[in-house]
Amino acid sequence: MSNDPVMNVPIARTALTEAEIESVLGPLRSGWLVQGPKVREFETKWSDFTSSGHSLAVTSCTTGLHLAAVALGLSAGDEVIVPAFTWIATANIVEHQQATTVFCDIDLDTFNIDIASMEAAITPRTKGIIPVHLFGLPANMDAVNALAKKHGLWVIEDAACGFGATYNGQHVGTLGDAGSFSFHPRKAITTGEGGMVTTNNADLAETIRQLRDHGAAMSDHQRHLGPRPYLLADHPLAGYNQRMTDFQAALGAAQMDRAAQIVEERRRLAARFDDAFAGLDWLRTPQEPEGCKHSYQSYPCLFKPSEITTSSVKRINAERNAWMEELQAAGVSTRPATHAVHMLTYYREKYGLREEDMPNAFAANDCSISLPLFHGMTEVEQDHVIAAVLQGPA
Ligand SMILES: Cc1ncc(COP(=O)(O)O)c(C=O)c1O
Repeated sequence: MSNDPVMNVPIARTALTEAEIESVLGPLRSGWLVQGPKVREFETKWSDFTSSGHSLAVTSCTTGLHLAAVALGLSAGDEVIVPAFTWIATANIVEHQQATTVFCDIDLDTFNIDIASMEAAITPRTKGIIPVHLFGLPANMDAVNALAKKHGLWVIEDAACGFGATYNGQHVGTLGDAGSFSFHPRKAITTGEGGMVTTNNADLAETIRQLRDHGAAMSDHQRHLGPRPYLLADHPLAGYNQRMTDFQAALGAAQMDRAAQIVEERRRLAARFDDAFAGLDWLRTPQEPEGCKHSYQSYPCLFKPSEITTSSVKRINAERNAWMEELQAAGVSTRPATHAVHMLTYYREKYGLREEDMPNAFAANDCSISLPLFHGMTEVEQDHVIAAVLQGPA
């Protein structure tokens, strides 16, 4: 551990260059604040980086997931399969359509959707699946897509953390019917709040484009650039207002100029942690299955001082929490990797769920721990984290 008594390593830190910060001023000076040229530029750069056919900037990953589900026709009485270990938003968008959330379990080795559990959850009312590329690790998309095809289901990828992650060389968010990314400050590219929907389906892209803008057939930008800017658009749909602002898009577009560098820096930091912790049998570091490129939105580990079983989870959870407190005192911020949504009050009560119904999500909820990882992290900061972790729980 470094001798610096005041060293505090946060779980994440936003690292914007001066040029990126300055970029926000462009739209403020031009006066074009919403859905203008900077939104178009950010979308184009996103499509170029991900090789997505269409990219649509929205107000958050959550609203992007919701718009995609609405565009795919999700409605009351339909069922959608969602992994139980994810951020609550993945499930909430199903509830927002008065549809039914059906949870499946995860694979504890990867924290991603468990294919057998997903298949077992399919019923005649299932309309879609939302695999999550959790923490930047691609889900097993070949298996998800094969099941979707077999049962006639749509697939929306929750790629909130998936910027820079590829599956068999293809960027996540381009593997299902649609994908949605997050630009919340804990993500590698940030616009404060914000999201990007990707799809290779032109009709779906057009519906989502309309839905994000009150259902308008034509955006303000198109209208202003067109031959009759003085006439209002028609509205074929009852849409929403989920438009990204141009000053957010300017910030996102500026960061895209070093997109590859950001991903590589995060992978380099992760590799250094992997090496440092390789000898710890009580800490499982993030896995990278064959064909998957992890982009490390975070560095989620599994704390397993002894075998994790349904009966040992609570004891290990108490040990993990005590260790987190020790790390916090040593100036290392940690977090549970995310939460198990089936254990949260709304879902537990509405669907009568018990923790052990999804045993792996339950174990991940109680025994996972994310260590600080962010581009811009210094070597001294990383050394401090490594030394504290190697010391182990008291
Ligand atoms: C897996 C997952 N899905 C969805 C979201 C929601 O993203 P946003 O805050 O941009 O709506 C998050 C945010 O952390 C997430 O981690």
